[in-house]
Amino acid sequence: MTTRYRVEYALKSHRRDQLIEWIKGLLAVPFVLHSQPTATFHEESEKLRAVADATHQRYAEIMRDVEYLINDHIAHHQENRSGQSKLKLLVPTVGMFFTPLLLQEAFDYQDQRRFISRRRFVAPSFNDVRLILNTAQLMGLVRRSEIRLMTFDGDVTLYDDGCCLTDDSPVIPRLIRLLRKGRKVGIVTAAGYTEPSKYYVRLKGLLDAVSVDTTLTREQKSSLVILGGEANFLFCYDDSAPELLRYVERNQWQLDEMRSWTDEDITALLDVAEAALRECVSNLNLPAILVRKDRAVGIIPRDGCKMHREQLEETVLVVQNTVERSEVGQRLPFCAFNGGNDVFVDIGDKSWGVRACQRYFGGIERSKTLHIGDQFLSAGSNDYKARLACTTAWVANPAETVSLLDELEELEGRESN
Ligand code: IMP
Ligand code: MG
Repeated sequence: MTTRYRVEYALKSHRRDQLIEWIKGLLAVPFVLHSQPTATFHEESEKLRAVADATHQRYAEIMRDVEYLINDHIAHHQENRSGQSKLKLLVPTVGMFFTPLLLQEAFDYQDQRRFISRRRFVAPSFNDVRLILNTAQLMGLVRRSEIRLMTFDGDVTLYDDGCCLTDDSPVIPRLIRLLRKGRKVGIVTAAGYTEPSKYYVRLKGLLDAVSVDTTLTREQKSSLVILGGEANFLFCYDDSAPELLRYVERNQWQLDEMRSWTDEDITALLDVAEAALRECVSNLNLPAILVRKDRAVGIIPRDGCKMHREQLEETVLVVQNTVERSEVGQRLPFCAFNGGNDVFVDIGDKSWGVRACQRYFGGIERSKTLHIGDQFLSAGSNDYKARLACTTAWVANPAETVSLLDELEELEGRESN
């Protein structure tokens, strides 16, 4: 790598997922060697079908080999072997996996839906690989573990950015189906409010549907919680509460380590973040106003204004760097992220939020928890940290969340037959 390329790569690496890019690169090899872009075939001809079959075979073998590398990576950790696993050497940013990923079978499943190996001009893409990984994770959970808790991000995962969960949302009956099956459901969102009314406005469709549902038991209904501000405010569904949500005191769900987060440190961290945000607003001439809350500080656009992706990303990286380098930033976890048209810094992050849900529900294991979110890039994305606490699936929009929940239902149906 030339120096210039290395620097650019380093600077852009927060916008790439190394594991996905690496798998994409492996799949590109058979694509390059087998695809037939210059041949003039009828697309449904026997010849082309044979090429597609051979390509499918190669892709499936690669996915199987990656599956084995992941199993080896898991064993490496479990057995406390010295040094790094082979996968870690190949993909230095790779984290832990809490269940195996059934990649070969997941590839078959997605290839039947996306016809990846039939394509001869478009190589396996980032989205192909992301969806294969999601399916492989669901299969790993269904076959090698079980799902007891599902946590969901809000914006872009359950509803469109900045919108609400209205009563016509197709995700609502799916969430109710999870509760009916005895699963715990947590909405782990950055949106941080101390009043239940604010969450009621955003989640009215779901809360009302749970309230009128006559098939759910009281216990199943109280298996729905909202953890706001990443890991700061817990609300539990409650029929008798005015807005169907009851605030749960921190001492009932806080993790032991969170007790050392002092008010002085929280204020000091938010002060550092606020100063950095103000400097960005001025330096980049952002059409934004500052919002300071108990456990967060952010910038939101002035009426109707739109900030550029580059402005938002620059702001996140400046603020993250500044807070990381401050003294209090060493003591207190925080999350700086790009919310699409705003930037927020929250105290804690979604790894704490998911772990708090696990604890609230009596200590659910990481291998039995699945978090679904849309922000999994390493910097400026707030679902990324959930990977420390549980298995995850990465969706691009609420429609994909619906498909994923249906896929889970289908896989579980097949298992029980
Ligand atoms: P999420 O996708 O559900 O995590 O929600 C993220 C969005 O919530 C952000 O982009 C903001 O628009 C909004 N939001 C409202 N209050 C807060 C807060 O206190 N911290 C972070 N985000 C907030
Ligand atoms: Mg989101």
